Amino acid sequence: MIKLGIIGTGGMANTHALFFKKIKGVELTACCDVDLKKAGEYAKKHCINNFYSDAEEMLKKEKLDAVTVVTSDKFHHPVVMKALAKKLHILCEKPIALNRKDAWEMAGEARKKGVINNVNFSYRNSSAAQMAAGLIRKGALGKIMHVDSFYQQSWLVSSAWGDWKTSPGWLWRLSTKMGSNGVLGDVGVHIYDLTTFIAGEITELNCLLKNFKKKPVFYKGNKLDANDSAVTMVKYKSGAVGSIYTSRYITGHPNDLKVGVYGDKGALEIYLNGSPQSYEELRVCRGVNAAGKNSWETLIAPATPNMYERFIKGIRTGKNGQADFATAARVQDYLDASFASDRKKKWIKT
Ligand SMILES: NC(=O)c1ccc[n+]([C@@H]2O[C@H](COP(=O)([O-])OP(=O)(O)OC[C@H]3O[C@@H](n4cnc5c(N)ncnc54)[C@H](O)[C@@H]3O)[C@@H](O)[C@H]2O)c1
Repeated sequence: MIKLGIIGTGGMANTHALFFKKIKGVELTACCDVDLKKAGEYAKKHCINNFYSDAEEMLKKEKLDAVTVVTSDKFHHPVVMKALAKKLHILCEKPIALNRKDAWEMAGEARKKGVINNVNFSYRNSSAAQMAAGLIRKGALGKIMHVDSFYQQSWLVSSAWGDWKTSPGWLWRLSTKMGSNGVLGDVGVHIYDLTTFIAGEITELNCLLKNFKKKPVFYKGNKLDANDSAVTMVKYKSGAVGSIYTSRYITGHPNDLKVGVYGDKGALEIYLNGSPQSYEELRVCRGVNAAGKNSWETLIAPATPNMYERFIKGIRTGKNGQADFATAARVQDYLDASFASDRKKKWIKT
């Protein structure tokens, strides 16, 4: 039996509980949240025996094999370092940290301790994304020239996900003081990961960040100053060029992602729009004359394991699966380079 502790019991922790409960041989042993009432309610909802308000106390008292870290972004680094000191296997939420220094420290320490370490880049759950990455590694598209990707959200111009002005779960995401790196750190991290997972490493980028709020807005005395749109020009190691953008102001698109890759022998596109079907559909343009005719077909990618299953499999086999801490730290390099580029108004090597 793998005994699992959950640290941070807000919105996303429910998704973790639901997925982990589906895996045989995994027990949700204990949970904790700085807000003890929240931890208690979560424990009741998911039938977890013990709950705490302090991660350190939970790690000391419970005999755990692994933890899943689902706190707000700012606490990933300190909480993960505590769990690594106990030599626990760790699934950490994205972004792994708030800066590359912390991210590489976590990756280095996890390697030293020899524990399974994964970051929950959940769009890798898409079997279409897995198939796309496989096709490109095999060279099916020939020489890649262009990569075009975006992650669109609309919650700053829509009430579909509630009123952000009164919701603590949204408000911390708008403040740098409260430990958010804005839309770029929150969901830009997903599209940087997904794009580079499929299309390969970024070597240089040039990013423009924007906060569209006209007047300063505050929450608990903190200015809501984090970026809410990011537009990045990108050069890839493969020689390809492209763009990646993300924003919370894309009216009409609650949560949509695209990655398109265009080579001299073919092209592929995934478009994840929230429907389960979109996670398995891969559009491809390839084969004799397909590119010349601009003809596309839709492939259905067979199911692949999700990140929770990969993490548990890693613990069972002793072999780290995809999206380990080092991968996430490399994505953090891209994020830090984006902030530097916006500040300095120039291209930055990653
Ligand atoms: N992979 C994905 O697709 C995905 C989706 C949503 C959120 N997330 C990530 O999950 C994390 C949590 O997001 P959320 O939407 O659940 O936020 P949330 O604000 O709903 O929950 C965060 C919880 O962490 C608790 N917390 C903060 N510091 C803590 C600490 N030191 N110890 C214990 N508990 C602590 C808070 O009290 C809160 O209950 C974030 O890092 C976010 O980026 C990932």
